[in-house]
Amino acid sequence: LYEIVPGLPAGEALDLQNAAEALGLNVQVKGTGNLSLLHGLDVVIVTAGFGRTPGMSRMDLLNKNLPIIEGIAREYAGGDGGTVFIIVTNPVDVLTYVFWRRSGVERHRVAGLSGVLDSSRLKTIMRSRGIRVSGLSSLVLGEHGENMVILRNRIREEYGLNDTELDTVQSETVKAAAEIISMKGATVHGPGASIARMVKAVLSDSREILPASAVLNGEYGIRNVCLGVPVEPGRNGFRIVQEKLGENEESLLRKAAENVSKALEQIGYG
Ligand code: 2OP
Repeated sequence: LYEIVPGLPAGEALDLQNAAEALGLNVQVKGTGNLSLLHGLDVVIVTAGFGRTPGMSRMDLLNKNLPIIEGIAREYAGGDGGTVFIIVTNPVDVLTYVFWRRSGVERHRVAGLSGVLDSSRLKTIMRSRGIRVSGLSSLVLGEHGENMVILRNRIREEYGLNDTELDTVQSETVKAAAEIISMKGATVHGPGASIARMVKAVLSDSREILPASAVLNGEYGIRNVCLGVPVEPGRNGFRIVQEKLGENEESLLRKAAENVSKALEQIGYG
């Protein structure tokens, strides 16, 4: 665990080590304030940065979090061998792309946490409507933000929701994180479990298809941005999967890409 706040990484590590021992997990948790020690790893998860406060959008965090991600990317310039990077810091689509550009990591070795978490919100909402959504087919793609793309056609076919119900599910999914933040100040367990799901898929080479923010270079007719698309995680990173999407879903994906591209241009990464 790397953290710049003095004492915090060591304290978190000890607390987590206690948890691991209580659960009988044969793991060792270490904390450090020295990022240069975090090299040659299987997976690096980047959560450094500021979180939203009530009323903020994820994009509002861009200027504060940009230099933090640029600094971490510089530490990994050249790609760091076979390490796989998962970026969580918001706005995650923009900053995953920044991390890739700054670090020079091969594009399949970096992805952002987005659709796994957004799909968990959609599934929560569906459960509250009495519909259990099993598995984790890619239900939410696009931007991890206002321009999320809920796969309406798939949800309509598999769960029989009508357009009005789909509209409600879509707007509730987009607002889900802000609602939690307004109630408890931050989202923690949802992101944590979603990151764990991605890490497990990478380390176990599970080849299950998950939605994540990937560096696009022509897939889905989109390039030079990161956006939530179906990927196949494995030990060597994230293979982008070209799934057949509905007409309207493809155009919504392109609209989301335009929004991310606009933000990238504003910070000189166009
Ligand atoms: C979320 O949606 C932190 O963006 C993350 O909870």
